[in-house]
Amino acid sequence: MTLRFPFTVRSPLPPVFASSLHRCLSIPSPSSSSSPTPLPSSDRRPPLFLRPPTFAASRSDLHDFRRWAESLALAAGPRISASDGGPDAALLRREIAWLVEDATVAAASESGVGEELRLRVELEELYRLWRARIEERRPFQYIVGCEHWRDLVLVVKEGVLIPRPETEMVVDLVAEVEGFEKGLWADLGTGSGAIAVGIGRMLQEGGRVFATDLSPVALEVARLNVERYELKDKIELRRGSWFEPLRDVEGKLTGLVSNPPYIPSSHVPGLQAEVGQHEPKLALDGGEEGMDHLLHLCEGSASALKSGGFFAFETNGDEQSEFIADLMSIKFGNFFHNIKLIPDFAGIQRFVTGFRR
Ligand SMILES: C[S@@+](CC[C@H](N)C(=O)[O-])C[C@H]1O[C@@H](n2cnc3c(N)ncnc32)[C@H](O)[C@@H]1O
Repeated sequence: MTLRFPFTVRSPLPPVFASSLHRCLSIPSPSSSSSPTPLPSSDRRPPLFLRPPTFAASRSDLHDFRRWAESLALAAGPRISASDGGPDAALLRREIAWLVEDATVAAASESGVGEELRLRVELEELYRLWRARIEERRPFQYIVGCEHWRDLVLVVKEGVLIPRPETEMVVDLVAEVEGFEKGLWADLGTGSGAIAVGIGRMLQEGGRVFATDLSPVALEVARLNVERYELKDKIELRRGSWFEPLRDVEGKLTGLVSNPPYIPSSHVPGLQAEVGQHEPKLALDGGEEGMDHLLHLCEGSASALKSGGFFAFETNGDEQSEFIADLMSIKFGNFFHNIKLIPDFAGIQRFVTGFRR
């Protein structure tokens, strides 16, 4: 049977600001002490909330900043949301509150001396950061240097995909696999390490995740997240293309998961500015139909997994998922069974899962 691409591919990656909507107030549980590996790009500073509060400003100066930032948000929000579905004024105003929260010490009233507040950046830099948010459409997560994902606070920076809320479900899918806790897992295209850290935290003695990526920037950021969550004994980072760095564990994996680039190339220029102009093309562009990497993953899974092994792939949704499910159950049906389409929170068939025979 010939499997063709019969579809026009649906909307691209969900808007980056969607993840800001579920930013929670959780305090990161791990120690923030370890960040020995310098980041490879120009901005080697830790995320805002981890920087020491070495600056000060008066309460009235901070109040002036908020008023100025809100005036920019109110003026630009309607235009931004109308132009490409970017953040509206209400969301931008919430981001201002989060920015100030990350930039000031937690208990401002206790640590403020009189009218002074302790800041983690100079006040001038707060102005510069917010101007970049509005004028350059720089994603909020790159401005503060982190993203709240599941119960984690992950370091992110330019050059690494900001993990999306729907991808959280991949970790839940793994948790449903019998005996997953002691297994060998691979997170292919780990980016910030989000999925690998989510899985790594659930593993028991003997369990391990191989987290791979082609991008050295992604691996440096993933390393920071692995170290922050004290998972160096559970997660091994490897650089290379898809299955290439996993030759030594071929046929031994309990499971493999991946959220590969799946946007059709022609859709990338039309993405919301925060995504298309700032997030790495390497993390977005899935080739002409968006399926290049997914197809490669499907082809390699039979050799990578051991008998009974599990796979979960994230896709661009409905038609891509259906195509992958058909591929795994028809063309590769001798190798796989129990193929399922799993919807995301929005009801879009986002994931394909199955088992090696
Ligand atoms: C959509 S992002 C997913 C990142 C992360 N897993 C997440 O869910 O947030 C895709 C990742 O695949 C990586 N990637 C792209 N091409 C690759 C390849 N040939 N081999 C390995 N990783 C690749 C990108 O660098 C990026 O980190």
